[in-house]
Amino acid sequence: MPSPSATIGATPNAPRFTTLPPLALYIHIPWCLKKCPYCDFNSHAQRDTLPETRYVQALLTDLETALPSIWGRRFSSIFFGGGTPSLFSPAAIDAILAGVRARMPVPPGTEVTLEANPGTFEAQKFAEFRDAGINRLSIGIQSFNPGHLRALGRVHDDAEAHRAVEIGLATIGNINLDLMYALPEQTLPEAVADLRTALSYAPPHLSAYHLTLEPNTLFARHPPRLPDDDSAAEMQDEIEALLKEAGYDHYETSAYAQPGRQCRHNRNYWEFGDYLGIGAGAHSKLSFPDRIRRQVRYKQPQQYLDMIDAGTPVIEEHEVGRRDAGFEFMLNALRLNDGVPVALFQERTGFPLTLVEPALAAAEAKGLLARDHQRMGPTELGRRFLNDLQELFLA
Ligand SMILES: C[S@@+](CC[C@H](N)C(=O)[O-])C[C@H]1O[C@@H](n2cnc3c(N)ncnc32)[C@H](O)[C@@H]1O
Ligand code: SF4
Repeated sequence: MPSPSATIGATPNAPRFTTLPPLALYIHIPWCLKKCPYCDFNSHAQRDTLPETRYVQALLTDLETALPSIWGRRFSSIFFGGGTPSLFSPAAIDAILAGVRARMPVPPGTEVTLEANPGTFEAQKFAEFRDAGINRLSIGIQSFNPGHLRALGRVHDDAEAHRAVEIGLATIGNINLDLMYALPEQTLPEAVADLRTALSYAPPHLSAYHLTLEPNTLFARHPPRLPDDDSAAEMQDEIEALLKEAGYDHYETSAYAQPGRQCRHNRNYWEFGDYLGIGAGAHSKLSFPDRIRRQVRYKQPQQYLDMIDAGTPVIEEHEVGRRDAGFEFMLNALRLNDGVPVALFQERTGFPLTLVEPALAAAEAKGLLARDHQRMGPTELGRRFLNDLQELFLA
């Protein structure tokens, strides 16, 4: 007879996968021209010349070392994130992609995104990124308002923001624009003006993030005057309404896409797919027939490079327990406005849905979640109070 700690009800302790989830590749480039005062990403101001050649080599060694964990699989998408990946030369991006293709299957038509900052844009360079295999750009516009760009400590001005969109559209075409709202002293008409300017370019994809004060940033230590919660909520409502009117599908909390242009890479995160993250501070989630493993790599670029030479870039590794698997799946899936197929829970966590049944029932009773035998997802109320909904799955 199993011990009481081995099972809770009928739910086994270890996951069981009959098929593994899709596998995405994330490549972290940890440098920026300057550190923005609101940013808590693993990004470091560039001091001297970037150690580009050494870092490219390190990334490929990193991938090589990870291969035994992903044998027989293929990459469903590739994403260069940062930091500012567009600081790297097209030759470096080409060498990375060629190295990836030499080691793992990357089917034709795979989405390959590069995050790019205005201020690093130059038409020839972006044409070369395209030739290297980049077929999607995510451009960190944040705002088209020169005063707000200054308040955010951005290195680019409004003219460079426009130029970046124009070059992005002319060279690669498939672009996402990142905007932030509820900026220091921003008014509703100013937030709307930013959005209208972005929409005038008809970008296939747009992300609109509520500026948040993240711990350990300059803004957290010296907070600027930000719009209050009611004003921020009004901005969000107006942004949603305008994007809907313009034909965009609001498919995730902060993401909007023209029909057929959702970001496949990010969607894989929200659907609790697998990802291998290589580069400084990158996170991975990898499934095996009987376990899910998470890994984190050394965060400081120099330390990452040294540890690659020493044999392992991984600083932390653990297996995802049953409770965390259920919570993490729901945390991600509930960000998707249309929800997910009910069957995806078992497919991606390796556990039966009964694992989260009490929380599902509680969320349904509170009107935060709706489900039938096919799909489950947040209601209108659940989308508005997403944190409350997600918290029910933490208990
Ligand atoms: C990984 S970041 C970096 C992209 C790129 N380096 C840039 O800044 O243009 C991706 C996006 O997250 C958003 N972001 C970063 N910090 C944020 C914060 N504190 N609050 C809300 N959104 C934030 C920005 O819109 C940014 O473009
Ligand atoms: S450019 Fe982007 S990643 Fe770099 S510091 Fe600014 S917000 Fe962070």
